[in-house]
This record gives sequence, C-alpha cells and structure tokens, in this order.
Amino acid sequence: MKRILSIVLALSMLVMAGAAAAETLTMATNAAFPPYEYYDDETDKIVGIDAEIAAAICAKLGYELEIVDVDFDSIVPGVQAGKYSFGMAGMTVTEDRLKSVDFSDSYATGIQVVIVPEDSAIASADDLFAEGANHKVGVQQGTTGDLYTTWDIEDTGKGTIERFKNGADAVLALTSGKVECVVIDNEPAKNFVAANPGLKILDTEYILENYAMCFSKNTPELTAQVNGALKELIADGTVQAIIDKYIPAEG
Ligand code: ARG
Repeated sequence: MKRILSIVLALSMLVMAGAAAAETLTMATNAAFPPYEYYDDETDKIVGIDAEIAAAICAKLGYELEIVDVDFDSIVPGVQAGKYSFGMAGMTVTEDRLKSVDFSDSYATGIQVVIVPEDSAIASADDLFAEGANHKVGVQQGTTGDLYTTWDIEDTGKGTIERFKNGADAVLALTSGKVECVVIDNEPAKNFVAANPGLKILDTEYILENYAMCFSKNTPELTAQVNGALKELIADGTVQAIIDKYIPAEG
C-alpha cells in the first residue's frame, strides 16, 4: 500500500512538473519579410502570419514558442544541425532543401514577382531573360528568388545578381538605384511597394511556390505532431483567419 502510494505521489509530481514547465520550441525566421514575419513598430515583437500560425500550433500541442531572427540562409543549416526546433519564414519547399531538412504540410502559397521603379523600361519578367538583356537584379541571399535568377539570368550571361541579407535591404538598394529590379515573394513585395513610393510590381508572375515549416530529419515525431495540429487549424479555419488578418482582401 505504502509502495503504491509513493508511486502515485511520484507520478503526480511528474505530471505537475510537466504542467509547470512546458517544453520550448525554437522557431528560426528572418523577420524582414512582412506580412509573414516582421517587427511590430509598437511592441518590437516579431509578428506576422508565420509567428501566429506557429503560436497556434504550439498552444494546441502544449509547447512554449520562442522566435529567433537569423539570416535566411542560415535557417536550413541551423535546423539541420539541431540548433532550432524548426524554421518558418515564408519558406518555399524545394527539391534542394528537401535533401537537408523535412517539410511540414504546406500552409500557404507564394509567387515570385518583380518589383521595379514606376518609370522602369523593364515591362515584364520576360524582359529579364530576353536575348541581349543585361539587368542588375536584387534578391535576398539564399532564397528561391536568388536561385531562379541565378539559373535564368546570371548563368546564362543575361545580367548580374546582387544578393542582400534580406528583402528590406534589397528594396532599399532598388530605391537608391543600385539595382534595377528586385525578385521577391508577392506579399512582401506588396508591403514593400506600399511603404516605398515610386515602385510597382510587374503583372507577370515568375513562379508559384508552396510555403511550409522545415524540421530536422532527426525529429520526425515533432514534424508529425505539428502536421496533426496544422491539419486541425486549417480545417477549423484558424489558418485562413490568420492569413486574412494580415492580407486584406483586394478590391
Ligand atoms: N519563399 C522564398 C524562399 O523560400 C523567400 C523566403 C524569404 N523569407 C524570409 N523570411 N526572409 O526562398
């Protein structure tokens, strides 16, 4: 009897300890990418679609969430090395990244678009790949925009690519005339154009992509847990409500 009692006691202490100290998941992001992740002007906290979806997933699964802001191209290696629990950064699922990390189910889509000054001679994305073209293109280092323009423009000798640490820096270089256009995801592009007068987005879309969270290949249980929570949050409309909050319907 005494034995049973002490086992019960030990067990209940374990449960209490578990309730008191929830495990923390560390999310790596690159927070210069509105509306997916950026610093709120007032609170100086990282907010956005990714931050809120991650918070909803963690709340459902009983984890604490910590968000760290790092260079975009250090997210996949950091997750792979176990430095972060996962990466979430409007990150596109690509064949190449799948060699290093696992991805969750997709929670959003993105499109690579081209930002130019309003008076630019570049009229469509195709102008960048035309025979004899020679444009200076700005991208965020290590993104799909970097990858595709490297293949389509740099490797074919049709222009040069300037790589910046983040999207905001690339757009700054565009406003100061250091590059002629920026290739970047469509929603951040809309935010940057709204914040910087004199810029516009070309109508032609470059490529459609799926966004997902990335995980170490060593934590398949966590990936599965997150996928379970994500599925429920998509089914009950939470994910769409978060997206709608940050991306107001057009028209
Ligand atoms: N979707 C692009 C990619 O995966 C760009 C993502 C950049 N994200 C960011 N938070 N800076 O390569």
